[in-house]
Amino acid sequence: MKYRTMGKLNIRSSAFGLGCMRFNGAASGDSVIDEQKAVSLIRRAIDGGVTYIDTAYVYLSKTSEIVLGKALRDGYRDRVTIATKMPLEAVHDRASMEVLLEEELNKLQTDHIDFYLMHGINREKWESFKAIGAPEFFDDMKKAGKIRYKCFSFHGPYDQFEYILKDNDWDMVQIQYNFMDVNNQAGTRGLELAGSLGIPVVIMEGLLGGRLASAPDNVQALYDAFPVRRSPVEWAFRWLCNHPEVSVVLSGCNEAEQIDENLRIFDTVDSGIMSPEERKLMDDVRAAYLNRTKIGCTGCRYCMPCPNGVNIPGIFSVWNNVSLYNVNPEHDWQFQGIRRNGNGADQCVGCGACEAACPQHLSIIEGLQAAWKNLTAE
Ligand SMILES: NC(=O)c1ccc[n+]([C@@H]2O[C@H](COP(=O)([O-])OP(=O)(O)OC[C@H]3O[C@@H](n4cnc5c(N)ncnc54)[C@H](OP(=O)(O)O)[C@@H]3O)[C@@H](O)[C@H]2O)c1
Repeated sequence: MKYRTMGKLNIRSSAFGLGCMRFNGAASGDSVIDEQKAVSLIRRAIDGGVTYIDTAYVYLSKTSEIVLGKALRDGYRDRVTIATKMPLEAVHDRASMEVLLEEELNKLQTDHIDFYLMHGINREKWESFKAIGAPEFFDDMKKAGKIRYKCFSFHGPYDQFEYILKDNDWDMVQIQYNFMDVNNQAGTRGLELAGSLGIPVVIMEGLLGGRLASAPDNVQALYDAFPVRRSPVEWAFRWLCNHPEVSVVLSGCNEAEQIDENLRIFDTVDSGIMSPEERKLMDDVRAAYLNRTKIGCTGCRYCMPCPNGVNIPGIFSVWNNVSLYNVNPEHDWQFQGIRRNGNGADQCVGCGACEAACPQHLSIIEGLQAAWKNLTAE
């Protein structure tokens, strides 16, 4: 296992951090955890050298912290740092934050949480967290020894990331990042900004929730043509760890084989190890994925709101993702939400308001029809 220094905190962590969000098929909506299996997976990772474990109050229908607490009995707690998260939805004032933190400490069977994160914030949620005094609460809990570090996790756009990052004295930040997300969410700019401020960065969705674990034919052909053979998982983690600003890469593993494979990979990866040829390969791989893009929607939302309620950027995002990563739309939560809420392309009346507003000059009406036909095909 390679260990890395976490920015200004000057502590060492395993490069591989275990995520506790996807045990036992939870990704497909099954929230029942096989506790024994999850405990054994967590301990297997720790025995293999993992020192960083990530969970959250809400994961696995609020059971993830409980299982982690059980896994960390028998001396395992002392071998790891725990990251967990406070969801805005569960708190509304200082008293409720105190109650929630106590609940999390109890579930985790510990007297302190190492990395305590405001969960999945964007600018709006950050303002709400500030309004209820969350930053001061975190600072007080640090002084009281109940948490060690004040952190946040983030899925919004770069400008919001920059604002939030500079708006408080954060100890760590967790962002979604992988070789496909260089210009998405916080992106490479966000990673480098945090690095320049000495703020350690923990990576989530390094395999895009598993979508980068296998490659479509045109991408696999590039991997196969490279002189050194590595699996798509290894290439993805290698690319991430090549960045010196990355402290920890989280991966949620469901099987012992995945843990073992990731332990093996994280023995070999380090910052600055990729050759120019390897970096070019990953640029080519990204381009090959993007070649599979169905429509050049950038998600700017100039077309919104649609007078008939069609979620235009959402539908195009699903259509592109389905094509890029061979995803089954039936397993795509965004697509299910669009259908459930009646925001599908079947609501389009062809008024053309969207096309007049689109800065990319896309043929939106035609695109919506094609997307819907493809996504709803049996
Ligand atoms: N704060 C937030 O808002 C937030 C959001 C997302 C994630 N997270 C955290 O970040 C952690 C990591 O995110 P993630 O779970 O999305 O990570 P990820 O690494 O992108 O995806 C995990 C999935 O990748 C597949 N996988 C992992 N190792 C593999 C291997 N060696 N070979 C083949 N497939 C492999 C598994 O998919 P299969 O299940 O298909 O086998 C696994 O479920 C989560 O567990 C969670 O703790 C936080």
